[in-house]
Amino acid sequence: MSEMIYQLQDLKVSFADLSRKPLLGAAPRTEVLKGLSFDIPKGEVLGIVGGSGSGKSTLGRALIRLIEPDAGSIRFEGTDIAHMSENELRPLRRRFQMIFQDPMSSLNPRRRVGGIIAGPLSLQGFDNIAARVDEALDMVGLPRQFAARYPHELSGGQRQRVGIARAIALKPDFILADEIVSGLDVSSQAQILNVLETLVRELGLTLAFISHDLSVIRRLCTRILVLYQGEIVENALTPELFSNPKAAYTRTLLDAIPLPDPDQVWS
Ligand SMILES: Nc1ncnc2c1ncn2[C@@H]1O[C@H](COP(=O)(O)OP(=O)(O)O)[C@@H](O)[C@H]1O
Ligand SMILES: [Mg+2]
Repeated sequence: MSEMIYQLQDLKVSFADLSRKPLLGAAPRTEVLKGLSFDIPKGEVLGIVGGSGSGKSTLGRALIRLIEPDAGSIRFEGTDIAHMSENELRPLRRRFQMIFQDPMSSLNPRRRVGGIIAGPLSLQGFDNIAARVDEALDMVGLPRQFAARYPHELSGGQRQRVGIARAIALKPDFILADEIVSGLDVSSQAQILNVLETLVRELGLTLAFISHDLSVIRRLCTRILVLYQGEIVENALTPELFSNPKAAYTRTLLDAIPLPDPDQVWS
């Protein structure tokens, strides 16, 4: 059995539903994740798929403890981080990183690319920062001179690579990517997926890749978790899920994939 980077047991997350708050008293809570249990083996690329509002982002945010779950355990490298305080989390934070959906709003427009990548490195006390910035740009396939550019001087795909460079420069063990290619055209999408594939292979990263697009997930992910209304309805290796979907909801998702367009060949 391969080693696990994450082990989740009965993870529950709820939010206060302010739209149903009575005049007096607390708002009722809506359970958004209804007791999820699964493991993520080291080196795996886990796809998390499901409809809008199914809880994908909430699950991702719990994995890297941007939110605290109501109940359940989240073991990261064996240690339960579910209810750790921010102080306890601080030494772990470098090890799980996130790439955001919208690089334009997650990259500081007044900083040059080099500064954007260097910022977290200096906060974490890394040495040889300039060399690490160069290396991160190399790894995502951007010319080193891009360190001097501002985000608005880059294309959407290039900005997304800066987001990836910023994350991998910190040498994390785990990266969460939440809908990171959704806003990009097909050829930029393909380039980003190629970069991620190379990084996973060469750095031994573990990646959780959230997307509503099964054709993207199929290309990149070794295993797929299907969420439906806050529950896991299927957790299967990618070839199995496509050849023999178990859950009715998975079959609905598969039926919704458009037939491959011969002009859109991944390169
Ligand atoms: N901070 C929050 N406060 C209240 N409700 C939230 C919050 N975040 C998410 N939700 C609700 O939780 C459900 C799942 O959201 P989300 O995890 O963002 O789904 P997905 O990423 O699959 O579209 C949705 O009904 C959403 O409205
Ligand atoms: Mg989401």
